[in-house]
Amino acid sequence: MKWILFFGALIGPSICGREKFFGDQVFRINVRGGDEISKLSQLLNSDNFKLDVWKSPSAFSHPVDVLVPSVSLQPVKSFLKSQALQYSVTIADLQALLDKEDEEMQHNEGQERSNNNFNYGAYHSLEAIYHEMDNIAGEFPDLAHRLKIGHSFENRSMYVLKFGTAEGRRRPAVWLNAGIHSREWISQATAIWTARKIVSDYGKDPAITSILEKMDIFLLPVANPDGYVYTQTKNRLWRKTRSLNSRSPCIGADPNRNWNSSFAGAGTSNNPCSEVYHGPHANSEVEVKSVVDFIQQHGNFKCFIDLHSYSQLLMYPYGYTVNKAPDAEELDEVARCAAKALASLSGTKYQVGPICTTVYPASGSSTDWAYDNGIKYAFTFELRDTGHYGFLLPANQIIPTAEETWLGLKTIMEHVRDHLY
Ligand SMILES: *[C@@H]1O[C@H](CO)[C@@H](O)[C@H](O)[C@H]1NC(C)=O
Ligand SMILES: *[C@@H]1O[C@H](CO)[C@@H](O)[C@H](O)[C@H]1NC(C)=O
Ligand SMILES: [Zn+2]
Repeated sequence: MKWILFFGALIGPSICGREKFFGDQVFRINVRGGDEISKLSQLLNSDNFKLDVWKSPSAFSHPVDVLVPSVSLQPVKSFLKSQALQYSVTIADLQALLDKEDEEMQHNEGQERSNNNFNYGAYHSLEAIYHEMDNIAGEFPDLAHRLKIGHSFENRSMYVLKFGTAEGRRRPAVWLNAGIHSREWISQATAIWTARKIVSDYGKDPAITSILEKMDIFLLPVANPDGYVYTQTKNRLWRKTRSLNSRSPCIGADPNRNWNSSFAGAGTSNNPCSEVYHGPHANSEVEVKSVVDFIQQHGNFKCFIDLHSYSQLLMYPYGYTVNKAPDAEELDEVARCAAKALASLSGTKYQVGPICTTVYPASGSSTDWAYDNGIKYAFTFELRDTGHYGFLLPANQIIPTAEETWLGLKTIMEHVRDHLY
Protein backbone atom coordinates (compact mmCIF):
# COMPACT_ATOMS: atom_id res chain seq x y z
CA MET A 1 0.00 0.00 0.00
CA LYS A 2 2.76 2.39 0.98
CA TRP A 3 4.57 1.67 -2.25
CA ILE A 4 1.52 2.32 -4.33
CA LEU A 5 0.98 5.63 -2.59
CA PHE A 6 4.63 6.47 -2.97
CA PHE A 7 4.68 5.80 -6.68
CA GLY A 8 1.37 7.51 -7.13
CA ALA A 9 2.73 10.64 -5.53
CA LEU A 10 5.95 10.47 -7.48
CA ILE A 11 4.58 9.86 -10.93
CA GLY A 12 1.32 11.74 -10.59
CA PRO A 13 -2.08 10.76 -11.85
CA SER A 14 -1.57 11.72 -15.47
CA ILE A 15 0.88 8.94 -16.25
CA CYS A 16 0.03 6.47 -13.56
CA GLY A 17 -3.69 6.02 -14.02
CA ARG A 18 -4.13 6.50 -17.72
CA GLU A 19 -5.30 3.83 -20.10
CA LYS A 20 -2.54 2.36 -22.26
CA PHE A 21 -2.71 1.69 -25.98
CA PHE A 22 0.28 -0.62 -26.40
CA GLY A 23 0.41 -2.10 -29.87
CA ASP A 24 -2.71 -0.27 -31.02
CA GLN A 25 -2.68 1.35 -34.44
CA VAL A 26 -4.72 3.78 -36.47
CA PHE A 27 -5.74 2.61 -39.95
CA ARG A 28 -6.85 4.76 -42.81
CA ILE A 29 -9.24 2.78 -44.94
CA ASN A 30 -9.98 4.03 -48.42
CA VAL A 31 -13.57 3.74 -49.50
CA ARG A 32 -14.61 4.67 -52.98
CA GLY A 33 -18.28 3.92 -53.32
CA GLY A 34 -21.49 2.95 -51.57
CA ASP A 35 -20.62 -0.71 -51.91
CA GLU A 36 -17.35 -0.28 -50.05
CA ILE A 37 -19.01 1.87 -47.41
CA SER A 38 -21.52 -0.86 -46.68
CA LYS A 39 -18.73 -3.46 -46.44
CA LEU A 40 -16.90 -1.18 -44.08
CA SER A 41 -20.01 -0.58 -41.99
CA GLN A 42 -20.08 -4.29 -41.23
CA LEU A 43 -16.64 -3.94 -39.75
CA LEU A 44 -17.34 -0.71 -37.88
CA ASN A 45 -20.64 -1.95 -36.47
CA SER A 46 -19.27 -5.22 -35.22
CA ASP A 47 -18.72 -5.24 -31.45
CA ASN A 48 -16.07 -7.93 -31.77
CA PHE A 49 -13.26 -5.70 -32.97
CA LYS A 50 -13.64 -2.92 -30.38
CA LEU A 51 -12.83 -0.29 -32.97
CA ASP A 52 -12.86 3.42 -32.23
CA VAL A 53 -13.86 5.41 -35.29
CA TRP A 54 -11.85 8.61 -35.49
CA LYS A 55 -13.24 9.73 -38.79
CA SER A 56 -16.49 8.26 -40.08
CA PRO A 57 -17.40 7.31 -43.62
CA SER A 58 -18.86 10.35 -45.32
CA ALA A 59 -21.06 11.08 -48.26
CA PHE A 60 -18.02 11.43 -50.49
CA SER A 61 -15.11 9.08 -50.97
CA HIS A 62 -13.28 10.41 -47.97
CA PRO A 63 -11.05 7.99 -46.16
CA VAL A 64 -12.08 6.52 -42.84
CA ASP A 65 -9.76 6.48 -39.84
CA VAL A 66 -10.14 3.84 -37.15
CA LEU A 67 -8.22 3.01 -34.03
CA VAL A 68 -7.61 -0.73 -34.05
CA PRO A 69 -6.68 -2.31 -30.71
CA SER A 70 -3.69 -4.65 -30.85
CA VAL A 71 -5.84 -7.75 -30.27
CA SER A 72 -7.92 -6.90 -33.33
CA LEU A 73 -5.06 -6.14 -35.72
CA GLN A 74 -4.95 -9.55 -37.36
CA PRO A 75 -8.71 -10.10 -37.64
CA VAL A 76 -9.25 -6.59 -39.01
CA LYS A 77 -6.47 -7.00 -41.57
CA SER A 78 -7.98 -10.33 -42.66
CA PHE A 79 -11.39 -8.76 -43.00
CA LEU A 80 -10.07 -5.86 -45.06
CA LYS A 81 -8.16 -8.25 -47.29
CA SER A 82 -11.15 -10.54 -47.78
CA GLN A 83 -13.28 -7.56 -48.78
CA ALA A 84 -10.54 -6.08 -50.99
CA LEU A 85 -10.59 -2.83 -49.04
CA GLN A 86 -7.41 -0.79 -49.28
CA TYR A 87 -5.88 0.67 -46.17
CA SER A 88 -2.71 2.16 -44.78
CA VAL A 89 -1.43 2.50 -41.23
CA THR A 90 -1.37 6.18 -40.26
CA ILE A 91 -0.27 5.73 -36.64
CA ALA A 92 1.86 2.65 -36.17
CA ASP A 93 2.62 3.17 -32.48
CA LEU A 94 -0.17 5.02 -30.75
CA GLN A 95 1.26 4.61 -27.27
CA ALA A 96 4.57 6.17 -28.34
CA LEU A 97 2.71 9.28 -29.53
CA LEU A 98 0.78 9.45 -26.27
CA ASP A 99 3.94 9.07 -24.23
CA LYS A 100 5.60 11.86 -26.17
CA GLU A 101 2.64 14.17 -25.70
CA ASP A 102 2.54 13.42 -21.99
CA GLU A 103 6.26 13.97 -21.59
CA GLU A 104 6.05 17.34 -23.36
CA MET A 105 3.16 18.40 -21.15
CA GLN A 106 4.97 17.48 -17.94
CA HIS A 107 8.12 19.20 -19.12
CA ASN A 108 6.15 22.34 -19.95
CA GLU A 109 4.38 22.33 -16.60
CA GLY A 110 7.75 22.29 -14.88
CA GLN A 111 8.94 25.23 -16.96
CA GLU A 112 5.77 27.20 -16.39
CA ARG A 113 6.09 26.69 -12.64
CA SER A 114 9.58 28.14 -12.69
CA ASN A 115 8.97 31.10 -15.03
CA ASN A 116 5.31 31.72 -14.21
CA ASN A 117 4.38 32.24 -17.83
CA PHE A 118 1.59 30.51 -19.74
CA ASN A 119 3.06 28.85 -22.82
CA TYR A 120 0.51 29.08 -25.63
CA GLY A 121 2.43 26.51 -27.61
CA ALA A 122 1.66 23.73 -25.12
CA TYR A 123 -1.34 21.70 -24.00
CA HIS A 124 -2.62 22.46 -20.52
CA SER A 125 -4.68 21.14 -17.66
CA LEU A 126 -8.17 22.53 -17.09
CA GLU A 127 -6.89 24.32 -14.02
CA ALA A 128 -4.12 26.04 -15.97
CA ILE A 129 -6.55 27.17 -18.68
CA TYR A 130 -8.95 28.55 -16.05
CA HIS A 131 -6.10 30.29 -14.32
CA GLU A 132 -4.99 31.91 -17.56
CA MET A 133 -8.55 33.09 -18.25
CA ASP A 134 -8.45 34.75 -14.86
CA ASN A 135 -5.10 36.36 -15.70
CA ILE A 136 -6.43 37.75 -18.97
CA ALA A 137 -9.47 39.23 -17.24
CA GLY A 138 -7.21 40.66 -14.53
CA GLU A 139 -4.79 42.25 -17.00
CA PHE A 140 -7.51 43.77 -19.18
CA PRO A 141 -10.32 44.71 -16.82
CA ASP A 142 -11.90 47.13 -19.31
CA LEU A 143 -12.04 44.57 -22.06
CA ALA A 144 -12.39 41.06 -20.62
CA HIS A 145 -14.41 39.44 -17.86
CA ARG A 146 -14.52 35.86 -16.70
CA LEU A 147 -18.07 34.63 -16.15
CA LYS A 148 -19.31 31.37 -14.70
CA ILE A 149 -22.21 30.13 -16.82
CA GLY A 150 -22.83 26.90 -14.95
CA HIS A 151 -21.15 23.71 -13.94
CA SER A 152 -20.46 20.29 -15.37
CA PHE A 153 -21.97 16.95 -14.35
CA GLU A 154 -19.07 16.43 -11.94
CA ASN A 155 -19.54 19.98 -10.69
CA ARG A 156 -16.61 21.67 -12.37
CA SER A 157 -17.16 25.34 -13.18
CA MET A 158 -17.91 26.33 -16.77
CA TYR A 159 -16.09 29.59 -17.43
CA VAL A 160 -16.55 31.97 -20.32
CA LEU A 161 -14.49 35.02 -21.20
CA LYS A 162 -16.59 37.95 -22.27
CA PHE A 163 -14.85 40.52 -24.45
CA GLY A 164 -16.59 43.84 -24.87
CA THR A 165 -16.06 47.54 -24.70
CA ALA A 166 -19.48 48.80 -23.60
CA GLU A 167 -20.60 48.02 -20.09
CA GLY A 168 -24.13 47.03 -19.29
CA ARG A 169 -25.71 47.00 -22.73
CA ARG A 170 -26.86 43.79 -24.35
CA ARG A 171 -25.04 44.22 -27.61
CA PRO A 172 -25.09 41.84 -30.57
CA ALA A 173 -22.80 38.97 -29.66
CA VAL A 174 -20.64 36.17 -30.98
CA TRP A 175 -20.37 32.80 -29.24
CA LEU A 176 -17.08 30.94 -29.68
CA ASN A 177 -17.26 27.37 -28.43
CA ALA A 178 -14.43 24.84 -28.09
CA GLY A 179 -13.69 21.47 -26.58
CA ILE A 180 -17.22 20.07 -26.64
CA HIS A 181 -15.51 16.81 -27.68
CA SER A 182 -12.85 16.45 -25.04
CA ARG A 183 -10.19 14.60 -27.05
CA GLU A 184 -10.00 17.33 -29.67
CA TRP A 185 -7.27 19.14 -27.75
CA ILE A 186 -6.29 21.49 -30.52
CA SER A 187 -9.68 23.18 -30.11
CA GLN A 188 -9.26 24.10 -26.43
CA ALA A 189 -5.67 25.19 -27.11
CA THR A 190 -6.73 27.32 -30.08
CA ALA A 191 -9.48 28.89 -27.99
CA ILE A 192 -7.23 30.04 -25.14
CA TRP A 193 -4.70 31.37 -27.67
CA THR A 194 -7.56 33.27 -29.30
CA ALA A 195 -8.49 34.84 -25.97
CA ARG A 196 -4.99 36.25 -25.58
CA LYS A 197 -4.99 37.36 -29.22
CA ILE A 198 -8.18 39.36 -28.79
CA VAL A 199 -6.89 41.36 -25.83
CA SER A 200 -3.42 41.83 -27.37
CA ASP A 201 -4.72 43.06 -30.71
CA TYR A 202 -7.56 45.24 -29.53
CA GLY A 203 -6.63 48.85 -30.33
CA LYS A 204 -3.88 47.72 -32.72
CA ASP A 205 -5.60 45.58 -35.31
CA PRO A 206 -8.41 47.63 -36.90
CA ALA A 207 -10.43 44.47 -37.63
CA ILE A 208 -10.78 43.18 -34.08
CA THR A 209 -11.02 46.73 -32.75
CA SER A 210 -14.01 47.53 -34.96
CA ILE A 211 -15.61 44.15 -34.27
CA LEU A 212 -15.49 44.87 -30.55
CA GLU A 213 -16.82 48.39 -31.05
CA LYS A 214 -20.05 46.84 -32.26
CA MET A 215 -20.28 43.39 -30.72
CA ASP A 216 -19.33 41.37 -27.66
CA ILE A 217 -17.50 38.08 -27.97
CA PHE A 218 -18.15 35.24 -25.54
CA LEU A 219 -15.53 32.50 -25.59
CA LEU A 220 -16.01 29.10 -23.93
CA PRO A 221 -12.66 27.32 -24.28
CA VAL A 222 -13.62 24.09 -22.49
CA ALA A 223 -17.24 23.20 -23.18
CA ASN A 224 -16.82 19.70 -21.72
CA PRO A 225 -14.63 20.12 -18.62
CA ASP A 226 -15.24 16.64 -17.15
CA GLY A 227 -14.32 15.01 -20.43
CA TYR A 228 -11.21 17.16 -20.71
CA VAL A 229 -10.00 16.21 -17.24
CA TYR A 230 -10.75 12.57 -18.06
CA THR A 231 -8.59 12.73 -21.21
CA GLN A 232 -5.69 13.83 -19.03
CA THR A 233 -6.20 11.44 -16.15
CA LYS A 234 -7.81 8.28 -17.54
CA ASN A 235 -8.23 8.01 -21.29
CA ARG A 236 -6.74 10.44 -23.78
CA LEU A 237 -9.30 9.47 -26.39
CA TRP A 238 -12.47 10.21 -24.41
CA ARG A 239 -15.01 12.18 -26.47
CA LYS A 240 -18.29 12.39 -24.53
CA THR A 241 -19.47 13.92 -21.29
CA ARG A 242 -19.08 11.95 -18.04
CA SER A 243 -22.72 11.76 -17.00
CA LEU A 244 -24.16 8.54 -15.56
CA ASN A 245 -26.81 6.65 -17.51
CA SER A 246 -29.69 5.17 -15.56
CA ARG A 247 -30.08 2.24 -17.97
CA SER A 248 -26.50 1.36 -18.81
CA PRO A 249 -23.07 1.06 -17.21
CA CYS A 250 -21.66 3.07 -20.13
CA ILE A 251 -20.82 6.64 -19.28
CA GLY A 252 -21.63 9.90 -20.99
CA ALA A 253 -23.49 11.25 -23.97
CA ASP A 254 -22.21 12.96 -27.08
CA PRO A 255 -22.67 16.63 -26.21
CA ASN A 256 -22.77 17.50 -29.88
CA ARG A 257 -25.82 15.29 -30.45
CA ASN A 258 -27.65 16.57 -27.38
CA TRP A 259 -28.97 19.93 -28.59
CA ASN A 260 -32.63 20.50 -29.30
CA SER A 261 -32.41 20.40 -33.09
CA SER A 262 -33.90 17.29 -34.66
CA PHE A 263 -32.91 15.54 -31.45
CA ALA A 264 -32.29 11.77 -31.84
CA GLY A 265 -32.43 12.05 -35.63
CA ALA A 266 -30.01 10.80 -38.27
CA GLY A 267 -26.38 10.35 -37.28
CA THR A 268 -27.06 9.64 -33.61
CA SER A 269 -27.46 6.52 -31.50
CA ASN A 270 -29.79 5.59 -28.67
CA ASN A 271 -27.20 3.17 -27.32
CA PRO A 272 -25.48 4.76 -24.29
CA CYS A 273 -22.28 2.91 -25.19
CA SER A 274 -22.06 4.59 -28.58
CA GLU A 275 -19.73 7.53 -29.19
CA VAL A 276 -22.68 9.37 -30.77
CA TYR A 277 -25.23 8.55 -28.05
CA HIS A 278 -27.65 11.48 -28.02
CA GLY A 279 -28.51 11.27 -24.31
CA PRO A 280 -31.92 10.60 -22.72
CA HIS A 281 -33.46 13.87 -23.93
CA ALA A 282 -32.46 17.17 -25.51
CA ASN A 283 -30.31 19.27 -23.15
CA SER A 284 -29.92 16.33 -20.76
CA GLU A 285 -26.22 17.17 -20.52
CA VAL A 286 -25.85 20.00 -18.05
CA GLU A 287 -22.92 21.38 -20.03
CA VAL A 288 -25.18 21.83 -23.06
CA LYS A 289 -28.06 23.14 -20.96
CA SER A 290 -25.81 25.77 -19.39
CA VAL A 291 -24.87 27.19 -22.78
CA VAL A 292 -28.44 27.03 -24.08
CA ASP A 293 -29.79 28.86 -21.02
CA PHE A 294 -27.10 31.51 -21.22
CA ILE A 295 -27.64 32.17 -24.92
CA GLN A 296 -31.42 32.26 -24.57
CA GLN A 297 -31.32 34.60 -21.59
CA HIS A 298 -28.95 36.89 -23.43
CA GLY A 299 -31.15 36.88 -26.50
CA ASN A 300 -28.92 38.82 -28.90
CA PHE A 301 -26.43 36.34 -30.33
CA LYS A 302 -25.81 36.74 -34.05
CA CYS A 303 -23.00 34.27 -34.54
CA PHE A 304 -22.12 30.86 -33.10
CA ILE A 305 -18.87 29.11 -33.97
CA ASP A 306 -17.94 25.66 -32.71
CA LEU A 307 -14.33 24.49 -32.89
CA HIS A 308 -13.62 20.78 -33.32
CA SER A 309 -10.89 18.62 -34.80
CA TYR A 310 -9.86 17.05 -37.06
CA SER A 311 -10.24 17.11 -40.88
CA GLN A 312 -9.79 20.76 -41.94
CA LEU A 313 -13.37 21.58 -42.73
CA LEU A 314 -15.46 24.70 -42.38
CA MET A 315 -19.14 23.87 -42.32
CA TYR A 316 -22.54 25.42 -41.79
CA PRO A 317 -26.09 24.09 -41.22
CA TYR A 318 -27.68 21.73 -41.72
CA GLY A 319 -26.31 18.58 -40.16
CA TYR A 320 -29.68 16.91 -39.62
CA THR A 321 -30.96 17.17 -43.17
CA VAL A 322 -29.65 17.35 -46.70
CA ASN A 323 -32.09 20.20 -47.31
CA LYS A 324 -30.47 23.54 -47.90
CA ALA A 325 -30.60 26.08 -45.10
CA PRO A 326 -32.42 29.27 -46.19
CA ASP A 327 -29.17 31.22 -45.79
CA ALA A 328 -26.96 28.55 -47.32
CA GLU A 329 -25.68 30.74 -50.13
CA GLU A 330 -24.55 33.55 -47.87
CA LEU A 331 -23.07 31.14 -45.32
CA ASP A 332 -21.22 29.33 -48.07
CA GLU A 333 -19.77 32.54 -49.37
CA VAL A 334 -18.66 33.66 -45.90
CA ALA A 335 -17.13 30.26 -45.21
CA ARG A 336 -15.23 30.32 -48.52
CA CYS A 337 -13.80 33.75 -47.73
CA ALA A 338 -12.84 32.56 -44.24
CA ALA A 339 -11.16 29.43 -45.60
CA LYS A 340 -9.25 31.56 -48.09
CA ALA A 341 -8.05 33.90 -45.36
CA LEU A 342 -7.05 30.92 -43.24
CA ALA A 343 -5.08 29.39 -46.11
CA SER A 344 -3.29 32.67 -46.80
CA LEU A 345 -1.00 32.18 -43.81
CA SER A 346 0.62 28.87 -44.61
CA GLY A 347 -1.46 27.20 -47.28
CA THR A 348 -3.59 24.98 -45.03
CA LYS A 349 -6.50 23.81 -47.16
CA TYR A 350 -10.03 23.58 -45.81
CA GLN A 351 -13.07 22.08 -47.47
CA VAL A 352 -16.27 24.11 -47.20
CA GLY A 353 -19.90 22.98 -47.23
CA PRO A 354 -23.00 22.08 -45.22
CA ILE A 355 -22.37 19.62 -42.37
CA CYS A 356 -24.70 16.91 -43.66
CA THR A 357 -23.20 16.52 -47.09
CA THR A 358 -19.62 17.51 -46.24
CA VAL A 359 -19.13 14.94 -43.49
CA TYR A 360 -22.22 12.95 -42.54
CA PRO A 361 -25.68 13.47 -41.09
CA ALA A 362 -25.47 14.70 -37.48
CA SER A 363 -28.60 15.61 -35.57
CA GLY A 364 -28.75 17.55 -32.33
CA SER A 365 -25.59 19.50 -33.07
CA SER A 366 -24.75 22.88 -31.60
CA THR A 367 -24.64 24.85 -34.82
CA ASP A 368 -27.96 23.49 -36.12
CA TRP A 369 -29.54 24.45 -32.81
CA ALA A 370 -28.01 27.93 -33.02
CA TYR A 371 -29.21 28.38 -36.58
CA ASP A 372 -32.74 27.17 -35.87
CA ASN A 373 -32.89 29.52 -32.92
CA GLY A 374 -32.23 32.64 -34.94
CA ILE A 375 -28.44 32.75 -34.88
CA LYS A 376 -27.86 33.02 -38.59
CA TYR A 377 -24.07 32.94 -38.70
CA ALA A 378 -23.48 29.40 -37.42
CA PHE A 379 -20.28 27.59 -38.33
CA THR A 380 -18.35 24.49 -37.35
CA PHE A 381 -14.61 24.26 -37.82
CA GLU A 382 -12.80 20.94 -37.92
CA LEU A 383 -9.25 22.10 -37.27
CA ARG A 384 -5.95 20.44 -38.24
CA ASP A 385 -4.91 17.97 -39.38
CA THR A 386 -6.25 15.66 -42.09
CA GLY A 387 -5.35 12.49 -40.21
CA HIS A 388 -1.59 12.19 -39.97
CA TYR A 389 -1.82 12.71 -36.20
CA GLY A 390 -5.58 13.03 -35.92
CA PHE A 391 -6.60 13.93 -32.37
CA LEU A 392 -2.96 13.74 -31.26
CA LEU A 393 -1.80 16.85 -33.05
CA PRO A 394 1.68 17.69 -31.71
CA ALA A 395 1.93 20.77 -29.53
CA ASN A 396 4.31 22.44 -31.99
CA GLN A 397 1.30 22.84 -34.30
CA ILE A 398 -0.84 24.70 -31.75
CA ILE A 399 0.35 28.21 -32.59
CA PRO A 400 0.39 27.71 -36.38
CA THR A 401 -3.12 26.27 -36.16
CA ALA A 402 -4.41 29.03 -33.88
CA GLU A 403 -2.86 31.77 -36.01
CA GLU A 404 -4.40 30.59 -39.26
CA THR A 405 -7.74 29.86 -37.60
CA TRP A 406 -7.79 33.39 -36.25
CA LEU A 407 -7.74 34.75 -39.81
CA GLY A 408 -10.80 32.63 -40.59
CA LEU A 409 -12.60 33.65 -37.40
CA LYS A 410 -11.90 37.33 -38.05
CA THR A 411 -13.26 37.07 -41.58
CA ILE A 412 -16.51 35.61 -40.26
CA MET A 413 -16.83 38.15 -37.45
CA GLU A 414 -16.16 41.07 -39.81
CA HIS A 415 -18.94 39.82 -42.03
CA VAL A 416 -21.28 39.58 -39.05
CA ARG A 417 -20.26 43.09 -37.95
CA ASP A 418 -21.22 44.43 -41.38
CA HIS A 419 -24.43 42.43 -41.65
CA LEU A 420 -26.10 42.79 -38.29
CA TYR A 421 -29.77 41.98 -38.47
C1 LIG B 1 -20.28 22.33 -6.51
O1 LIG B 1 -19.24 23.29 -6.43
C2 LIG B 1 -19.59 24.46 -5.71
C3 LIG B 1 -18.40 25.41 -5.77
O2 LIG B 1 -17.95 25.60 -7.06
C4 LIG B 1 -19.95 24.11 -4.27
O3 LIG B 1 -20.38 25.26 -3.60
C5 LIG B 1 -21.05 23.05 -4.27
O4 LIG B 1 -21.29 22.61 -2.97
C6 LIG B 1 -20.67 21.85 -5.12
N1 LIG B 1 -21.79 20.94 -5.22
C7 LIG B 1 -21.64 19.65 -5.15
C8 LIG B 1 -22.88 18.83 -5.31
O5 LIG B 1 -20.55 19.09 -4.97
C1 LIG C 1 -37.25 21.64 -28.01
O1 LIG C 1 -37.82 22.53 -28.93
C2 LIG C 1 -39.22 22.40 -29.07
C3 LIG C 1 -39.65 23.41 -30.12
O2 LIG C 1 -39.03 23.19 -31.32
C4 LIG C 1 -39.90 22.64 -27.76
O3 LIG C 1 -41.29 22.41 -27.89
C5 LIG C 1 -39.32 21.71 -26.69
O4 LIG C 1 -39.87 22.03 -25.43
C6 LIG C 1 -37.82 21.85 -26.63
N1 LIG C 1 -37.25 20.89 -25.70
C7 LIG C 1 -36.35 21.20 -24.77
C8 LIG C 1 -35.86 20.11 -23.92
O5 LIG C 1 -35.95 22.33 -24.62
ZN1 LIG D 1 -15.81 17.11 -32.44
